[in-house]
Amino acid sequence: MVNICCIGAGYVGGPSCAVIAYQCHDVKVTIVDLNQARIDAWNSDELPIYEPGLDEIVFSRRGKNLFFTTEVDQAIIDADLIFVSVNTPTKKSGMGAGYAADLAYIENATRRIAQVATSSKVVIEKSTVPCRTAQSMRTILEANSSKDIRFDILSNPEFLAEGTAVKDLTNPDRVLIGCLQTPEGFAAQQKLVDIYTRWIPQERVITMNLWSSELSKLAANALLAQRISSINALSAICEATGADVDEVAYACGTDSRIGPKFLKASVGFGGSCFQKDILNLVYLSEQLYLPEVAAYWKSVVTMNEYQKMRFTHRIVRTLFNTVTFKRIALLGFAFKKDTGDTRESAAITLSSYLIQERANVAIYDPKVSAKQIKMDLTEPGVGTNEAEVDKHVQVCSSAYEACAGADALVICTEWDEFKMEHLDYQKIFEKMQKPAFIFDGRLILDAPKLREIGFRVETIGKSA
Ligand code: NAI
Repeated sequence: MVNICCIGAGYVGGPSCAVIAYQCHDVKVTIVDLNQARIDAWNSDELPIYEPGLDEIVFSRRGKNLFFTTEVDQAIIDADLIFVSVNTPTKKSGMGAGYAADLAYIENATRRIAQVATSSKVVIEKSTVPCRTAQSMRTILEANSSKDIRFDILSNPEFLAEGTAVKDLTNPDRVLIGCLQTPEGFAAQQKLVDIYTRWIPQERVITMNLWSSELSKLAANALLAQRISSINALSAICEATGADVDEVAYACGTDSRIGPKFLKASVGFGGSCFQKDILNLVYLSEQLYLPEVAAYWKSVVTMNEYQKMRFTHRIVRTLFNTVTFKRIALLGFAFKKDTGDTRESAAITLSSYLIQERANVAIYDPKVSAKQIKMDLTEPGVGTNEAEVDKHVQVCSSAYEACAGADALVICTEWDEFKMEHLDYQKIFEKMQKPAFIFDGRLILDAPKLREIGFRVETIGKSA
């Protein structure tokens, strides 16, 4: 039986290795984490992350060939292959603060492997890391291990998107596996290819050198985010000229060289990866003395910040230049639909700007808890403190509750339940202050129909 250990039971480690256990019943998968509460949740009826289809996969294999534990050392000792799937957040202080990836978690996990391993291992970089991190991991492993133990390093970046993780893992566009171009490297690579090809067609399992594989992950995220910033930049031009960003996106997307995906204008991208990975690429470019390249990628993040600010300014301007003590219903707090993840969510920035304008913000999200919302809004750097949040934020248990008595309703996340076929906007209109404003930051509502009800509607990428 092949024995796999995954270090890091987060949004990536949990689903990606649970799917391996689901697809390969003869592979034993042990997912470990230092965070006891997270492991307890993985072992309970309520998993720590929400992903459509994940419960079925975990519940069907847990206790059979899928295990969650904090016994990190034992899992390392038993494993043939070890995925390192720990967090790599942007550094908050020191060299490269605000840009570089914090590799402390990667290093700690790597050192742990070196310290406790009693047999040879294939160590797989699953976390998103700067190009050539595998080199540092290899140096640490080799310097800390005994002579008769061999470590081979692979890069196997994860391309799943939150909200569609199970679908992406079950039927991925591609899987990348990078290795050192040596006979031992190729042999290690083949072990992982043999796992993935159990359910993924061979032609979608792409092998390459380590550094290409590491850089491809950063490059793919940078290119995706760049498309969003490009359409968002165009949305500003649309609002100023009377062009309609949906029509422009459609016109451009039907060009087969461009394609339609990731051309939806919005209040801005969020999530734990896009911003972090681009900033990481910016830092890498600077380290390589490529300032023009760094500035190019940096502008993608600058445009995203501008879009959030621009949308908030539009709200304030439209509400007669003041939102002080006005109730503003914010629908959606997760960074996108079908996930409870709020990391870098545009809703955090929007709420913070509105609170600073002394608005009373009533927030509803189907999957984000009040505790999480308050935690996000009081994080250092967000710009709002606990007293302000207590005074100005109410977390509601339904969209109707959030909108009751509100001057404006703002769509922040594109949850299906906020669409016209699911929410009764007539009922909402009746309970709101008049004039009743709607700001659609996700292009999910039918503005003409809402105007018929009596709403004043402002949509991103469309003039009023
Ligand atoms: P996460 O923060 O949800 O999970 C990481 C987990 O690793 C945490 O639970 C933490 O306690 C654990 N951990 C840290 N150090 C450890 C150690 N030494 N031993 C045991 N456990 C340890 O992070 P997430 O979102 O799963 O991301 C992991 C990596 O995957 C990051 O590099 C991220 O950039 C990348 N990634 C994330 C995607 C996403 O959608 N969240 C998509 C693709 C890649």
